[in-house]
Amino acid sequence: MSKVLVTGGCGYIGSHTLVELLAAGFEPVSIDDNSRSNESILDGVERITGKRVKNYKVDLRDARLTDAVFAEHRDAIAVIHFAAYKTVPESVAKPLLYYDNNINSLLNVLQCTDEFGIPSFIFSSSCSVYGNSKELPVTEATPFGEAECPYARTKQMGEQIIQDFSKVSKTRFVSLRYFNPVGAHPSGEIGEVPIGEPDNLVPRITRTAASNLNLSPNLNLNLNLNLPLLVVHGNDYPTRDGTCIRDYIHVSDIARAHVLAIEYLQKSPVPRPPSLVPHPESIVHSPESRVRTFNLGSGVGTTVLEAIGAFERATGQKLNYRIGPRRPGDVEAIYADNKKAAAELGWQPRFDLDDMMRTAWQWEQTAKGRG
Ligand SMILES: NC(=O)c1ccc[n+]([C@@H]2O[C@H](COP(=O)([O-])OP(=O)(O)OC[C@H]3O[C@@H](n4cnc5c(N)ncnc54)[C@H](O)[C@@H]3O)[C@@H](O)[C@H]2O)c1
Repeated sequence: MSKVLVTGGCGYIGSHTLVELLAAGFEPVSIDDNSRSNESILDGVERITGKRVKNYKVDLRDARLTDAVFAEHRDAIAVIHFAAYKTVPESVAKPLLYYDNNINSLLNVLQCTDEFGIPSFIFSSSCSVYGNSKELPVTEATPFGEAECPYARTKQMGEQIIQDFSKVSKTRFVSLRYFNPVGAHPSGEIGEVPIGEPDNLVPRITRTAASNLNLSPNLNLNLNLNLPLLVVHGNDYPTRDGTCIRDYIHVSDIARAHVLAIEYLQKSPVPRPPSLVPHPESIVHSPESRVRTFNLGSGVGTTVLEAIGAFERATGQKLNYRIGPRRPGDVEAIYADNKKAAAELGWQPRFDLDDMMRTAWQWEQTAKGRG
């Protein structure tokens, strides 16, 4: 069985990816310090797949400990690097924490990937690299925009570091730019566990609906958060109903794309041997040929009010919300052109918006009983 090292394997997207890797016959090993997750999510992965994934509780900023885990798994055929902090307002309040964690972890993981000659590397990037793009839908060729927050800048920097490193490394790289991953595994066994007050729309929707039904949240990390009312941040944007547009994509679709990306890298030609002295040819070498970048979005823009409508339709729950002022830092509209992922990875989303809302709601209710 081919082994895959998954950093951040206990997180939201990481845990769903463990399920897809196991289903595809890979042997995932997680490295996660659980600073933003709970290892008990691996119980859910086991209930779905019948397999227990080992997690190394290691802070990837610690080069020595990271190296020790890689040394134990030098036979891995790929690394998927999810581990990062991802909360936009927190990154604004604590930029150094974000640069320290997201960049130093990446550097150590790249160093080890190279040291042990692991052939494939997949990086979790984000549509936030595009900033407030005027060009919609955004394609992989759309240039980086001004980063709206330090978190987004860590993703831009991460991609740039990988671009530079790819020129001297034997490893092959894919950067996956996720749009707005939502929903939960259809089994209801795993889903998103936001720490404290959720920042994203769908967890806020489900938490508000749960609060109104007096379903008290009792997940370890969620400390009885009650959200009686959802505030929609602004309805005066130049969009079809005045609210912001996002591209929601089911987390299991995102997870499956990682399996396809590994298979894609396994099939792609080995890059020319690295050289520290750049050959004149490599100067004109397109960066795309060493790092392949893919948008992972549904390709459909959905307004906040449409998302609320989908939640009410899919679950039969009426949502308590009101319109509030705009929130600083919010991008007005963004959605993906996903044709490249379809053409080259053979990736097509399988879940629609109603599925995303239904599974997110199911998880919100199931998770209650588990606490
Ligand atoms: N969820 C989204 O909306 C979204 C969108 C775009 C990109 N991304 C990116 O995808 C990746 C996964 O996101 P997620 O939603 O699963 O986040 P998550 O917070 O659920 O998972 C990240 C995991 O990484 C771990 N981690 C963080 N720093 C670590 C460190 N120094 N050492 C070891 N483990 C560490 C955390 O404990 C957590 O389990 C992140 O890189 C994120 O930036 C997420």
